Amino acid sequence: MNKQLRKAIIAGNWKMNKTRPEAKALIEDLKPVAANATCEVVICVPFTNLETAVALTEGTNIKVGAENVHFEKSGAFTGEISADMLTEIGVEYVIIGHSERRQYFGETDETVNKRTKAALAAGLKPIVCVGELLWERECDITEEVIARQIKLDFFGVSAEDLKKSVIAYEPVWAIGTGKTATSEQAQEVCAFIRATLAKLYDQDTANAVTIQYGGSMNPKNAEELLAQPDVDGGLIGGASLKAADFGVLLDAATNG
Ligand code: PGA
Repeated sequence: MNKQLRKAIIAGNWKMNKTRPEAKALIEDLKPVAANATCEVVICVPFTNLETAVALTEGTNIKVGAENVHFEKSGAFTGEISADMLTEIGVEYVIIGHSERRQYFGETDETVNKRTKAALAAGLKPIVCVGELLWERECDITEEVIARQIKLDFFGVSAEDLKKSVIAYEPVWAIGTGKTATSEQAQEVCAFIRATLAKLYDQDTANAVTIQYGGSMNPKNAEELLAQPDVDGGLIGGASLKAADFGVLLDAATNG
């Protein structure tokens, strides 16, 4: 992390977990754990828990995010949620293009780009996920895959808006598998993302963007990953569902 240049952000991604009573209990446990964190603390929760999370975190340092957003403002899109619906209830962040959405729900770079622009236009901070599949890494095309995703996902996004965005590098083979990228692998790709942004925009803009690592980040490996100069935080799945574990990651980001 380089806290002089950009904000360190630890964001939980609850995925499809926690009923409302369970969410309330976890948030109450998280409040004291997060109270002294100097990094930005975000919890991205299922749509059904957003209102609860916003109400319970009022006056705390915990920010609330959604896990997806539709790109149209309103209309005949059964089952979808718009950016305005999210901001109206006090949501600040939204995860876009998570690999599970790309893999199971037909998300493409084109729709990621549309969602990112819609989120930014509504004042949400997008956490845009990129990452290579295992076989793409094995074929040694990780950089091509990541460069393509960055170019397409942020196509038409201004430098000013890019600075409000977060990028999460999540190698697909490391998500929920217990296989973490080594700190060198994470640093290498996060630095590559920054270099790609510097080419597309300029170095100052690239330096201002928070780039997280995600994929089996846990209390054991967080410190080493977050010590890397271009790893500015984490997008955390499994370890965000236990307050004590999440607390260790917040401490690692606070002290790093
Ligand atoms: P994980 O998930 O920490 O459980 O691997 C990360 C993510 O999918 O964002």
